[in-house]
Amino acid sequence: MKVTVVGAGAVGATCADNIARKELAQELVLLDIKEGLAEGKAQDMMQTAALLGFDTRITGSTNDYSKTAGSDVVVITSGLPRKPGMTREELIGTNAGIVKGVCENILKYSPDAIIIVISNPMDTMTYLALQSTGLPKNRIIGMGGTLDSSRFKYQLSQHLGCSPADLNALVVGGHGDTTMIPLIRFATWNSIPVTDYLTEEQQKQIVADTMVGGATLTKLIGTSAWYAPGAAGAALVESIVRDEKKLFTCCVSLEGEYGQSDICLGVPVVIGKNGWEKIVDFKLNDEEKELFNKSADAVRSMNDVLKTL
Ligand code: LMR
Repeated sequence: MKVTVVGAGAVGATCADNIARKELAQELVLLDIKEGLAEGKAQDMMQTAALLGFDTRITGSTNDYSKTAGSDVVVITSGLPRKPGMTREELIGTNAGIVKGVCENILKYSPDAIIIVISNPMDTMTYLALQSTGLPKNRIIGMGGTLDSSRFKYQLSQHLGCSPADLNALVVGGHGDTTMIPLIRFATWNSIPVTDYLTEEQQKQIVADTMVGGATLTKLIGTSAWYAPGAAGAALVESIVRDEKKLFTCCVSLEGEYGQSDICLGVPVVIGKNGWEKIVDFKLNDEEKELFNKSADAVRSMNDVLKTL
């Protein structure tokens, strides 16, 4: 198994580190446009192999895509991160060109790769990757909902005083501060509805804190987060390379599911060796449906911006 992570910034390096530690690939390539960055980080990670006991071979490359040839999975993290006060959507002008170029280069050498998109604005970058490559839709996966669902579990765990690993909870819709939809009605603590233990006020707070999870961290750190985004990317790689068929919320192409078409948006999907293999189209109530449609409208108008670039 060969995996490439494009972008050796904090998110890409964290994702690569998780992939190596879990030995999800025999070969792992880290690629970046900045001279020496990927080589340096790859070497640094390889120097943990003896300590951590992994056998994944990590190599770095400064923009030489031939080194990525034959990758089974490619994770795209390239592009600018947001600064405090910015929305993810403001990155579109710079990141669209970068993501399009990365997709072109990747496919020259790895025509069969499954592509995971992390770059922001993630829903629109996933749509762009799908449109510009023309790949079968199941091979393009946007990571956002996987991250947001993990943040949702964190927020729930803080209020419930429980382990995040004991929680089942999902966030659907867009990966934006106002477009994501944490579905608290369906969240359970080892099968027990969390709403049995949380006041209306607590539930509202948890949903609100989840939605601005990325913005809160950007304000605290001064740039956007990387541990959870990197781990979320690696979790998807794991489900693909081990054909786990785990259920994650991912941004995928909708063709009528959830009443939407010609858009990539976060919904529950089964992730396995073929990429996303199945959309789980479950019943939202009227209020949730309305939120989902509003989220789709916002993402669609961001997708329209692509035509003007
Ligand atoms: C995140 O949610 O951490 C990423 O999308 C980065 C960001 O801008 O918040």
